[in-house]
Amino acid sequence: MSDSLRIELRAEAGPAIGLGHAMRSLALGQALIAAGHQVSWKSSHLPGSLPQRLEKLGIAWSAESAAVDAVVFDGYHFTPAESAACPVPVLTVDDAAPPLADRHPQAAVVLNPNLHAADAIPPRSTGRWLLGPRFALLRPEFLGVQAGPISTVQRVIVTLGGADPDGRTAATVAAVRQALPTAEIQVIAGAANPRLAQLRRDCSALDAQVLVDVADMATTLAAADLVVAAAGSTVLELLALGVPCIAMAIADNQEPVARRLARDDLAEVVDDEAGLTKAVAELAADLELRRSRSVRGQRLVDGHGAARVVSALEAAVTGLGLRPADADDALSTLDWANDPITRAASFGRSEISTDDHHRWFTAKLNDATQRMWIAEDADGIPSGVIRCDLPEHHDGPALIHLTLAASHRGRGLAAKAIAAACRRMTAGHLAATIHALIMPDNPASLRAFSRAGFVPAGTTTVRGHSAQILRWAVK
Ligand SMILES: CC(C)(COP(=O)(O)OP(=O)(O)OC[C@H]1O[C@@H](n2cnc3c(N)ncnc32)[C@H](O)[C@@H]1OP(=O)(O)O)[C@@H](O)C(=O)NCCC(=O)NCCS
Repeated sequence: MSDSLRIELRAEAGPAIGLGHAMRSLALGQALIAAGHQVSWKSSHLPGSLPQRLEKLGIAWSAESAAVDAVVFDGYHFTPAESAACPVPVLTVDDAAPPLADRHPQAAVVLNPNLHAADAIPPRSTGRWLLGPRFALLRPEFLGVQAGPISTVQRVIVTLGGADPDGRTAATVAAVRQALPTAEIQVIAGAANPRLAQLRRDCSALDAQVLVDVADMATTLAAADLVVAAAGSTVLELLALGVPCIAMAIADNQEPVARRLARDDLAEVVDDEAGLTKAVAELAADLELRRSRSVRGQRLVDGHGAARVVSALEAAVTGLGLRPADADDALSTLDWANDPITRAASFGRSEISTDDHHRWFTAKLNDATQRMWIAEDADGIPSGVIRCDLPEHHDGPALIHLTLAASHRGRGLAAKAIAAACRRMTAGHLAATIHALIMPDNPASLRAFSRAGFVPAGTTTVRGHSAQILRWAVK
């Protein structure tokens, strides 16, 4: 089954546009690659180390379009005519959606990952809407990094975006320095910042260090005790890391984000440098507030947003996507597991109690030797669960399990779900071979696995039931 999709990302970066759109697109590109898809990037120009970063990830960059299965637009300058001209499904990232979202009537998926978007009601019923920080496009490194414990504020980072078009960074650093005369202050500046030389001189006078074009943003931000950031995408990264933050709206489109941060008490929000000095001093003195915000931020932005967006894109193209399972999936997975046909096809036949299931499900979610995904259809309706036990030994097989919701059987979705899971196992180098153990009297399952490329590999006995072993190997 040929299942890998070719996805084209369209995003620009530079002094006027900033780096935000490109960094978000990069995060989506990495998540697409982790799901086994092929990614290309269309852009007229990319500054700094971005071209090398794309090359390292295997993302081909060009000013021309190639033949693809879907296109992702991220940028305010894209017109409806451009998305309408795409002969394939389109995903549009629009920070202003939903009010402006009908700018993209052709989009199969509209994404606004901002904090304030979650409350909005989409203005039309067609297409799929991904709204709020559950869909934040964070690069994978933000999942892997653990910020240090919240304690005394010794290191402060100032980051006002890749370009800082109004040149406010030096005054911001001066305001922080006034509040914390002895703290270590680092400034993160993008290569797109047109005033870099002057910024270095100003920061040197304030005993602050300038870091340019930081490659490992997650580790750098996680090492800070407090970050002063523009109320853009960086805020979502800081919430995910649990690093306490003071936000400043430095562009009009950041105003609603800043209001939401203040309303939900997720971060301090300031309007100007005078307010900043006061806010830094107060927040640095309030350990408890920094701790509680850190916990709430991590709950809100769990770092799986890009994987969820990949699933929506897959579903828009193929009718089925896979996203990581989370705690909210406990009830539906119990329903599917207790469906009589599922029980009859399982090696343990008795009905599963709610308590047992919750215990089991929570353990599986936290088990590093497991991967569990929820299949969802093009409307985002959860349609089944697919799970892999990772190999016990380096070259051993993974074991795959699949249950579709009764409402979604008989539509040919099973083979797609199996192939999507195998693709992720391969892309993540998690297993070179995968086994499925299936009862001989389960023709739908045998057929679905065979359609997904599994071949018979003998028989075995599981809990007193004979089972057919089907085997899949990376080509
Ligand atoms: C097994 C399961 C995932 C398959 O999903 P599904 O939606 O029913 O399967 P599909 O509609 O994709 O059908 C798969 C294939 O089996 C065929 N099939 C379905 N029922 C069949 C039957 N009774 N006899 C012969 N072939 C059958 C279909 O025609 C299809 O073949 P095709 O791809 O050549 O058209 C689903 O039935 C399920 O969740 N069952 C309960 C749990 C389970 O058995 N899990 C598998 C153990 S790992």
